[in-house]
Formats: sequence, structure tokens, C-alpha cells
Amino acid sequence: MWKFKNPIRHAIPATRWPTAAEAAQSLLFQPIKIGPIEAASRTWVPAMVPWRATAEGFVTQENLDWYRRFAEGRPGVLVVEATGVRDIPSGPLLRIGHDRFLPGLRQLVETVRKASDGQTKLLIQIIDFLSVKRRPERQKYFERFLSLTERHREVLAEVTEDHSWLSADETAVRNFLTVATEEVVEKVLDQRELESLRFGYREHVTDMHLPQVRELPAVLPDIFASAARRAREAGFDGVELHYAHAYTMAGFLSALNNRSDGYGGTRENRIRLPLEVYAAVRHAVGHDYVVGTRFLGDEVIAGGSHLNDAIYFGVEFARAGMDYLSLSKGGKFEDAQQPKVGQAVYPYTGQSGYECMPTILSDQLGPFGRSVPLVAAVKRAVNAAGFKTPIVAAGGITTFAQAEAILTEGQADIAGLARQALADPDWFIKVKLGRGDEIRRCNYTNYCEALDQAHRPVTCKLWDRTELAEPGAVTVDAGRRRLLAPQWQRQSDEEERLSVRRKAR
Ligand SMILES: Cc1cc2nc3c(=O)[nH]c(=O)nc-3n(C[C@H](O)[C@H](O)[C@H](O)COP(=O)(O)O)c2cc1C
Ligand code: SF4
Repeated sequence: MWKFKNPIRHAIPATRWPTAAEAAQSLLFQPIKIGPIEAASRTWVPAMVPWRATAEGFVTQENLDWYRRFAEGRPGVLVVEATGVRDIPSGPLLRIGHDRFLPGLRQLVETVRKASDGQTKLLIQIIDFLSVKRRPERQKYFERFLSLTERHREVLAEVTEDHSWLSADETAVRNFLTVATEEVVEKVLDQRELESLRFGYREHVTDMHLPQVRELPAVLPDIFASAARRAREAGFDGVELHYAHAYTMAGFLSALNNRSDGYGGTRENRIRLPLEVYAAVRHAVGHDYVVGTRFLGDEVIAGGSHLNDAIYFGVEFARAGMDYLSLSKGGKFEDAQQPKVGQAVYPYTGQSGYECMPTILSDQLGPFGRSVPLVAAVKRAVNAAGFKTPIVAAGGITTFAQAEAILTEGQADIAGLARQALADPDWFIKVKLGRGDEIRRCNYTNYCEALDQAHRPVTCKLWDRTELAEPGAVTVDAGRRRLLAPQWQRQSDEEERLSVRRKAR
């Protein structure tokens, strides 16, 4: 994980939790319209991949339990993890690229409805991603993966001042490069080849020489539209188009996108495909269905998009008719750390990854709500353009006072709590009942994120080794980690005594 040079360790902010009466009066617990639906409160659990689907992308009992546990806390909106729109293998990540995924997704919807007593609206985040391969062994790369060209031979001859390389046997060239110094390799390989060697092969949206990348604008609108139709059929309240972080659609929005086919370069061109995807989705699901997006307030990478781009995109998404805009930050491949041989590059290991999921080891600003100024700027622009599209903020939102201030100060319309909800899925109901003192406070040190990076079932370190003997607790790692937060005893001992006494009378 990327770190600041001289990080400051920030304390988890102390706070006074509201009474039930204060919570009832608050803006956070007022309903809000999101397109055609109304959420019971302005609280939101953003998408979090828990690594619980089957290897074929089907919903498992563990997925159902994961979402049930969040629903028991009754956030206003719960967003299901990034779910693949294509019918291609993608490991244990949920998929929605074929009708065979519908029964499991329907069950997921029913589980959340039941557990929240219909109080939590359920959206699903739908995603497309390009191919990312593991970092290869050096020998394998030079023996099998590098496509050897005349250019390589020419540079090699020049660098070594040995013209025999121009006509040398291919195996000899490959063998030489396998053991060559970094200096020679850096001269012989181009930037993309070096990236493949050091980080693993990865497709970029700008790879116009690849037919499958060139044709993305032709195929993605229909693929997303079919996925959204399935989401509606499964009973979700809406879809979230994943236009954030390191994935295909964010690649189109990125300032690094210089495609020459009308889908890259200027902002107008970069937003073209995201708007075409939205139009196809809207056409498929109709106007009486929620369609929103998650996109970046700042990519936090050299040459990437910044706030001015986000402001432009936000206004255009609102103008197009999106029902909500959820802002995130960073999470890119471009500044990710080099993975170990045999592992895939993870887009949350550089500074942009830090900004996506900030920890308490921070700069002066600290990790709490550090993206809020970006969100507020997008909201101001969207509102000034005449749109009331609700805007969701996330990133280090942990206390009621903080969430309420963000809303009352008009910086966002909805408060998103991801890791805090993972640490304590009952945050929402505890605050509402005036029982905030019982909240398990996230300490923002990213144990959960490390599990995500390792593609292991995501849990929270505050509860995954506690009460392991609780009846019904499902565990992994030979019984050492429980998969779900312990059940909250809603009645305190005092209340229990009172109710027993009442019953006895
Ligand atoms: C384990 C884990 C998985 C995540 N998966 C997703 C995802 O599928 N889609 C997404 O947009 N963001 C994902 N995120 C980012 C969160 O939605 C959120 O933006 C981020 O954690 C910052 O908010 P927080 O400070 O409230 O945690 C994930 C975060 C974590 C910790
Ligand atoms: S593992 Fe750490 S950062 Fe993640 S939710 Fe739990 S306390 Fe928060």
C-alpha cells in the first residue's frame, strides 16, 4: 500500500451520538427521492466486493448472508458489489451477463427485502473490465510472450554495437534478453512491453490495434443494456453504471484516453461512450427505473482527469437523465505498485488507491471526508445547471455529526459509508435508535482491503475473530475467521429486564 512520506496518525474522531429524537429530526434520516423511487433515509452503503461468488459468478449462500447482514442495519440504499456485465469467466465475482444468473440474483433481492423489512432500496453496480494478466516470470515473458520484431533487433544491435543481432536466431535473441541488464531491456522494449514484463499484460482502452478493444463502442451499449434489463427482471430497484476506478468505462472518461475514433481526446469525446451506454440502458429499462452512475471526482494520476473534468461529466450525466451521481476518487492501475511474479496488478496500491480508501496514516487533511470538497464542487455545478440529481459522497464518513454536516452544508445529498458499514452493519439502525454508543467504529487501517487485494473473502478485523463459537457462525481459514459481523443484541440488558418485569406483571 502506498504511504505518505511522513504520515500523521489520525485518531478516530470522538463524537456525541444523537438521541433517537435528534436522529428522527435530522436530515440524514429524512426520505429522499432518487428518480422514481424514494429511499427511507439519506444513508447509503457503496459497492464492496466480498469475494464470495462461485468461480462461475453465481450468487452463493455466503453472498446472501453478506447482503442480509447489511440489510439488517437498514441503510437507505445498499449497492451490490461490482457485477460483471459480460458472459466471460472472471473468478469469484458476481456476474449478470446471462439469464442463468437470474435465479440467484432474485434470491439476493428477496433476502434484502426480507431482512430490511422493505426499508432498504437495493441497487446493483454493473461493470465491464478489460483483460489483466498476472506478472510473468522474466524467462517466460521473453520466451513466450514478447512478440519479437525487427525493431527489437535493430535497437539490440545498436545498444550492443553488435550487428549480428539483425540476423540472429530468434531463440538466441530471446535468451540474450532474458539475462540482459535492466538498462538494455529498457532500451529494447517499448513502454507497453516493459509494462507487460514488470506488471503483467493489461489491455488499455486505447489499444486500437486490438479488435476487441477497437469495437468496445459498438458492443458495450447493448451488453450493459442487457445486464440492466436482467437487474430489473431480478427485482433490483436500480442499476449503478460503474464508471469509476480502473475499469473500462473509467478508461474512456480518463484524460489519458486519446483514442482517435471519436471516443477519446476531448471531454466531449471521452464522455461519448458513457452517454451512449447510459442511453441504451435507459432504453432497455425505461424511465420508471433507477439508473445512476459512480465516477471519479479526480483520478489522482499523472495526466489523468481532475475536478474540472468531473464537473463537466457530472453536469452532462445529470442532463442526460441519470437518477443519481455517486462520486469516488482514484483507484487506478497507472500508479499501482509492482505485483509479485504470479500476481496481478491491484489498482489500489498507489497514491490513487490511497485516495480511494484512505487510512488513518495520512497527511494534514486526514482520511475523514477528504473527497467531500470534490463532491461539493460537482454538486454545485450540477445544481447551478438546473438539475436536482442527488449526489452521493463517500470516503471516511464515520460519525453521525460528520454525515449530517455534509448534508446540511449542502455538500452532498446522501452519505455513503463503506468500511464503517463493514465494521458495523448496524450503524444506521443504532444511530436511528439513539444507540450510537454501541457502534463498532471502523479504525481505517484497511485489513479488509488487504483481503480484497489477495482475493480472499473480505471480513473486518474488529469482528472476524470474535465469538467464533456463536451458534450458526460460518467461518473460513480452518475456523479462524468468521464471515459475518456478530448479531447485535438490540435489547440492552436493562431493556430486557424491564420487558421481563412487564411480562411478569
Ligand atoms: C473490500 C472493499 C471492496 C470494494 N469494492 C468496491 C466495488 O465493488 N465497487 C466500488 O465502486 N467501490 C468499491 N470499494 C470502494 C468503496 O465503495 C468506497 O468507495 C471506499 O471504501 C471509500 O469509502 P469508505 O471510506 O466509506 O470505506 C470497495 C472497498 C472495499 C474496502
Ligand atoms: S478491517 Fe479495518 S478498515 Fe476494514 S472495516 Fe474493519 S476496521 Fe474498518
